[in-house]
Amino acid sequence: MNQLPPNVKYDILSPAFHSDPYPTLRAMREQDPIFSHPLLQARVLTRYADVNTVLRENTGVFSARKVEQFGVGTPEHVADKLRVCNDFFRTWVAFLDPPEHTRLRSLIAKAFTFQSIESLRGKIESVAGELIGAARSRGSLEVVADLAGPLPRQIFAELLGIPAEDTAELDRFSSMVIPLFGGGVIGADEVEAAHAGVLGFYAYFTKHIEARRSESTSDLLSKMMEARVGEDRLSDDELVGMCVTLMIADHETTSSLITNSILTLCRRPSALQLLREDLDLIPGAVDEVMRYESPTFATFRRVVREFELVDGVTLEPGSFVLGVLAAANRDPERFADPDTFDVTRENNRHLAFSTGIHTCPGAAMARLEGQIVLRTFIEAFERFELVDDDLAYAPHLMLRGPQALRVAVR
Ligand code: HEM
Repeated sequence: MNQLPPNVKYDILSPAFHSDPYPTLRAMREQDPIFSHPLLQARVLTRYADVNTVLRENTGVFSARKVEQFGVGTPEHVADKLRVCNDFFRTWVAFLDPPEHTRLRSLIAKAFTFQSIESLRGKIESVAGELIGAARSRGSLEVVADLAGPLPRQIFAELLGIPAEDTAELDRFSSMVIPLFGGGVIGADEVEAAHAGVLGFYAYFTKHIEARRSESTSDLLSKMMEARVGEDRLSDDELVGMCVTLMIADHETTSSLITNSILTLCRRPSALQLLREDLDLIPGAVDEVMRYESPTFATFRRVVREFELVDGVTLEPGSFVLGVLAAANRDPERFADPDTFDVTRENNRHLAFSTGIHTCPGAAMARLEGQIVLRTFIEAFERFELVDDDLAYAPHLMLRGPQALRVAVR
């Protein structure tokens, strides 16, 4: 990430900020709730009401079309490869506005149903039992590598209908593609890598789409291929884009949710005790983790029409806003005692899954995974504690979670 000019008051791009962002976010919310960040060239919003307004505004003021921004300023000799990547991103539901966005959401809603998520329950229980059982025999685990990373990947493979062994290859493509849209400065090498990752994804998913043309299966990929709204259906390019979007949107976020759940309970024995006494509190506890340590830190929108956000503050067309979900979720105007982790919290309408038209379609699946893992973990171990409380976080504006978490278990 770039060096900050000396006059930037809130250093929200540094690793130090991301290891404990809440004091800075509180200061921003209290003193500069609509902060113009010179390096991001965006207004950074930290109040619940403002973030909620931007995400819910549905009269075409804000746009999620950000693809033109990806790779701006990269050398001319990689322009063709950049175009291939950006044409691929243009099919992603996350980067579309209505009516194209509405069309894709309606088509995936036909395939990605409550039943398809609920049918994963047994698989989630068995994978959680297996991974947690292996940790019991070792007496410790590195939560990210041993549980939170592998579990969502195995469950996603089951859902989509691809072999779980292919996860490593798909992760490699993701790590090549993500830097292009993750913010930060992109060079020719990154464009080359992203291009190779995009081709890798195409080759991989096209092979699976072709196989289902001769023999349909009962998995999500077949259901997405069969989904129709009237005569409309997903094209092959859209299908590949949807598989990759779902995969990337699922993996790191669900992994952070699981890691943050275990971390937060290690740090708060009284909350853990409450859960042990009443396991029915677990669904509320998972949502409280989402609020308290939001896996999705922030999200950008482009302003396409002039908009008065609050009295005297007008957002100009062409500018960007960054809605900090992690700050909105700790706004005392919306949540009583917001810096307290409370597994019995009521009316917990946090924004960690966003809201409005882009609200996360995978929320039920993430909640189910989080709840099953937490319950299995609590039931498996009489005691668990942090081996090291000094955690590293990547300075990423979209995603937040510890990079590793070592826990001793008994
Ligand atoms: C704890 C886990 C998760 C969190 C915190 C999370 C959070 C989010 C957020 C905040 C957004 C909207 C971003 C915005 O408004 O710009 C989003 C969108 C999305 N999520 Fe999730 N997500 C999670 C899990 C999942 C899972 C399991 C899937 C699917 C398997 C998924 C698929 C998607 C997709 C496809 C979108 C784009 C929707 C659209 O643009 O209309 N997510 N997610």
